[in-house]
Amino acid sequence: MVAVNNKVRLDIEQGVAVISIDSPPVNALSHAVREGIYNGVNQALADDSVGGIVVLCEGRTFIAGADISEFGSAPKEPHLHTILEALDQSTKPVVAAIHGTALGGGLETALCCNYRIASANAKFGLPEVHLGLLPGAGGTQRLPRIVGVEKALSMVTSGAPIGAEDALKTGLIDLMAGEDLRANAIDFIRDKAAIGGDHPRVRDNQEKLSSSVPNEEIFAGVRKMIARKTRGFLAPEYNIQCIEAAVSKPFDEGMKTEGKLFMELMSGAQSKAQQYFFFAERQASKVDGIDKTTPELQIAKVGVIGGGLMGGGIAMNMANVGIPVTIVETNQTALDRGLGTIRKNYENTASKGRLRLEDVETRCNLINGALDVDALADCDLIIEAVFENMAVKKDIFSRLDVVAKPTAILASNTSALDLNEIAQATSRPESVIGLHFFSPANVMKLLEIVRGDKTSDSVIKTCMAFAKKIKKVATLVGVCPGFVGNRILFMRQHQANLVALEGAPVSQVDKVLFDFGFPMGAFQMADLAGLDLGWDKDNSNSETVKDRLCEMGRCGQKTRSGFYDYDDSRRPAPSAVVADLIADHAQKTGVIQRQISDQEILDRCILPMVNEGAKILEEGIAMRASDIDVVYVYGYGWPIYRGGPMHYANSLGLSEVVAKLRAYQQQTGDDFWEPSPLLVSLAEQGGQF
Ligand code: 3HC
Repeated sequence: MVAVNNKVRLDIEQGVAVISIDSPPVNALSHAVREGIYNGVNQALADDSVGGIVVLCEGRTFIAGADISEFGSAPKEPHLHTILEALDQSTKPVVAAIHGTALGGGLETALCCNYRIASANAKFGLPEVHLGLLPGAGGTQRLPRIVGVEKALSMVTSGAPIGAEDALKTGLIDLMAGEDLRANAIDFIRDKAAIGGDHPRVRDNQEKLSSSVPNEEIFAGVRKMIARKTRGFLAPEYNIQCIEAAVSKPFDEGMKTEGKLFMELMSGAQSKAQQYFFFAERQASKVDGIDKTTPELQIAKVGVIGGGLMGGGIAMNMANVGIPVTIVETNQTALDRGLGTIRKNYENTASKGRLRLEDVETRCNLINGALDVDALADCDLIIEAVFENMAVKKDIFSRLDVVAKPTAILASNTSALDLNEIAQATSRPESVIGLHFFSPANVMKLLEIVRGDKTSDSVIKTCMAFAKKIKKVATLVGVCPGFVGNRILFMRQHQANLVALEGAPVSQVDKVLFDFGFPMGAFQMADLAGLDLGWDKDNSNSETVKDRLCEMGRCGQKTRSGFYDYDDSRRPAPSAVVADLIADHAQKTGVIQRQISDQEILDRCILPMVNEGAKILEEGIAMRASDIDVVYVYGYGWPIYRGGPMHYANSLGLSEVVAKLRAYQQQTGDDFWEPSPLLVSLAEQGGQF
């Protein structure tokens, strides 16, 4: 055995050179790994006793791609292209032996080998699109040559990996390995070396570049299919253009197109934001200051109090991963309705082919109903998901205190109320935590985990791990009204209301936010949530535009009218009634209406969010700026290609943000615009969040 360097080894076994990469956690193609592979290949080629070469990885996975953490620094030789060229031009046959995930540059490495064999559970993908990129090491030119144009387009635009069976069917791998991948790979390449002759190179394969469906039709179809989902993103279209180059140009010309478009994306703001977000998301799961030895509790059974839209959605998360869950409602009718809605949701998913019918039954069977909290005595985690009323929540928690087993975690799904006050209703505040799911709870990825003053480390650690288990992205936050997400959102809504009052049509405000990349604007979102949320019908006195709309029965989408009018398909149309009402309200409150530019709307809606984020950081409510960005991307549809509010502020420049806040403060005389001390001091030091 020869250590090529501290990441790569070279073993010569039975006339085969085995190059093994051992660079945890995911064998990414860091400089040391690239250097090791390159030297390993050259040593194998120079050794006359070697007939063939195996490239494999130790640890949990085959190469998971280029090392993203190196993207910001100057590239160092040997570049990935140099290594791939060496593999592609090898005079001895090479096989990639793949387990785990061959992703991005990892799959591109495998595509430069003559052969690929893989374990049955291996996965293969080009996920660069998720980083705002395209595969820049030949992936867009080689993949269609081996799996065909349609499949390649689907893989590069979705970034989703395919499994080993699919890979075998499409020709991406030559052989499915048995238990011993390494031994199988050595045998395989020895046989190939013994047969001799030319060994196939993916670049030479032209056959799969055409099919019975004309390529133009395939490209047009894909563009149409992904248009809505990829609105605002550059990378999907660039990926498509590379595959177009693969079918219309010779290989080397196609490589040039790929290289040019890759560099354009790599140097652009979108990819920077998406790379930043890749690490932000992973960082969010880490909690500083919790001792490694802190015990994690077992969660084998869950209780949910409230079977409405929220409670039902929460329960589905548990059933989806095989955890039994009991829903408690106050009466049989509500319980039946809740369980019925869950079944309908699953059946809808099954009817779209995204769930097997037998899974509908398995999941529904995991969800039971009860009419009393006594039924939750054996639950490890109990989540209260009733409406936002402190007295009701306190009553529930005092009853849970009596019923729940001593080790149970008692969680509230409150989106704004004081968790510490709720915890005081129990004799065990250390067991109380906030688990704030976002609606629809079975779909939205974000989980705000709210740490009370007395919540124990063990409960926090357990909930962070549990979030991962139910496939949520968790961020740990502290207690304050609205926590991180809703507290910041309030700032946007406040300014959206004001600019509308000052004369910007509701549809203009929403269009500005939609064009920025949000899935919908502030007023459409308010209509969706229901304008009567938190509205006090009995004491309503026409104080705000929203009050007046509710008084007219315009409560949002559910009443087919709110800030907009809605048709039966819930499509919004601007309402003259609302425009008149807002103008009238402006007059009554002494506000002079004027034309407002899109830029002013954008600044006034977005910059207060940044300022509030800075205050949240100052107060220690969020652990890091990147956690706020994770909350916004996963909970509120902030476009990931803008990284989140704090990354967006960094990209604008913090002194620019401070200058604009101060300008509005001066213009309006309103201390709402006062920049937070943290923001000011970072701006003065030329720093960033
Ligand atoms: N570069 C650097 N670090 C990486 C990495 C990469 N490509 N992929 C994963 N990591 C790190 C993560 O940051 C994390 O670090 P941490 O423990 O310090 O937080 C650690 O590896 C483990 O990652 P996950 O927590 O994501 O582990 P999972 O087991 O859940 O997932 C994975 C493993 C499926 C490999 C997932 O990490 C992943 O999807 N990675 C990214 C793959 C990718 O995007 N590859 C393409 C890169 S771009 C490229 O190759 C360009 C080329 O075309 C030229």
